[in-house]
Amino acid sequence: MLAGRHVVLAVSGGVAAFKAAYLARRLLEAGAEVRAVMTHSSQNFLGAQSMAAITGIEPISDLFHQADVSPHTSLARWADVIVVAPATAATMARMANGLSEDIVSATVLAATCPVVVAPAMHTEMWEHPATQRNVETLRADGYVIVGPTSGALAGGDVGEGRMVEPEDIVTAISGALGDRSMAGWRVVVSAGGTREAIDPVRYIGNRSSGKMGNAVAIAAADAGAAVTLVTTVAAPKHPSIEVIEVESAQEMADAVWKTAAGADVAVLAAAVADFRPADPAVGKLRRAEGPPQVNLEPTPDILAGVSAMEDRPYLVGFAAEVGSVDAAVAKATRKGLDLLVANDVARPGSGFGTETNEVTIVTPGGDTEAWELLSKAEVGRRLIAEIAKRRNEAGRT
Ligand code: CTP
Repeated sequence: MLAGRHVVLAVSGGVAAFKAAYLARRLLEAGAEVRAVMTHSSQNFLGAQSMAAITGIEPISDLFHQADVSPHTSLARWADVIVVAPATAATMARMANGLSEDIVSATVLAATCPVVVAPAMHTEMWEHPATQRNVETLRADGYVIVGPTSGALAGGDVGEGRMVEPEDIVTAISGALGDRSMAGWRVVVSAGGTREAIDPVRYIGNRSSGKMGNAVAIAAADAGAAVTLVTTVAAPKHPSIEVIEVESAQEMADAVWKTAAGADVAVLAAAVADFRPADPAVGKLRRAEGPPQVNLEPTPDILAGVSAMEDRPYLVGFAAEVGSVDAAVAKATRKGLDLLVANDVARPGSGFGTETNEVTIVTPGGDTEAWELLSKAEVGRRLIAEIAKRRNEAGRT
């Protein structure tokens, strides 16, 4: 959803300014165009050259003596969204009071687009009634406040006031830009690799990190859906994502089948074991007993169960393939899917554990669409947009 969107990244002077460089990179990875404005004091923490090197454009630090006689209004008109990260107590005070003596507060004051604010300051400053008043004012003026959170602060202190991580700011920006293509929908997502017990301490597992499923869940939630994420791994925190933690294929099947009934969309991104030990040992298997004989039995096919539901959700599967997509097309048909996302796990940058993915979208009719190598977050967003479009076109309500 950020692809092609204009983001003004406004940096004010706190130690979290170094994270603004990382935020710029994440925004660019998501396909956004980024222009930075930096207060003078922010440059004690992050060099303008670093920001220029990342965004490819010199950040603007001054209101005057620029090629553009009115950089703040030009930028405010160019922006689809402005993000102030970090927002210090002083910058928030200026914004709340309509002051505009520096490039950041002037650009914000000139803006008519959504503004996302990521506060960062010491706990005492955050908790001060003046700051809390300013936060309330900014909220009432329609600003999106994201964070702060608790953690390490400047000078070795620990407490509330730490800027949230760049990923959370990207999520807030997407939300502020308002893709509501799934508003009112209920979406079930599975993520992670299942673990099938051999004995109380050992299991059969796989290399899935759950990153792709998490990205899909976030994208669906950002698009307005109420998401149930059935997962074996750490889940993202999002107000619209309900998490059900599971471990085995059987537990995942029970949770998915229960929640997918009546849902609008199910995206099954988990790497589910196809076989499990038929009789997991009750006690720990001992080395002295020699190599155990582990008999396997099939696990339930979760997709097939959802596909067979009466009034089933729009159903999307993932397939880790190696080599051609022909097998994926056959799989989409065989499994009764609406859409299959195939990825070649043998390719560099794709598959298990990576931050990126190169996928091909496959329909049961045999249409295929290869997407370029993208961050998993971007694959998630595009996939959600694609699902919303296709489900609407199919006339399902
Ligand atoms: N899947 C499932 N239940 C299983 C196994 C897989 O729902 N017991 C889902 C996965 O979440 C994924 C899709 O099925 O969305 C494809 O997984 P894959 O392992 O490629 O499918 P298999 O049927 O196991 O195919 P193969 O013949 O390649 O083993």
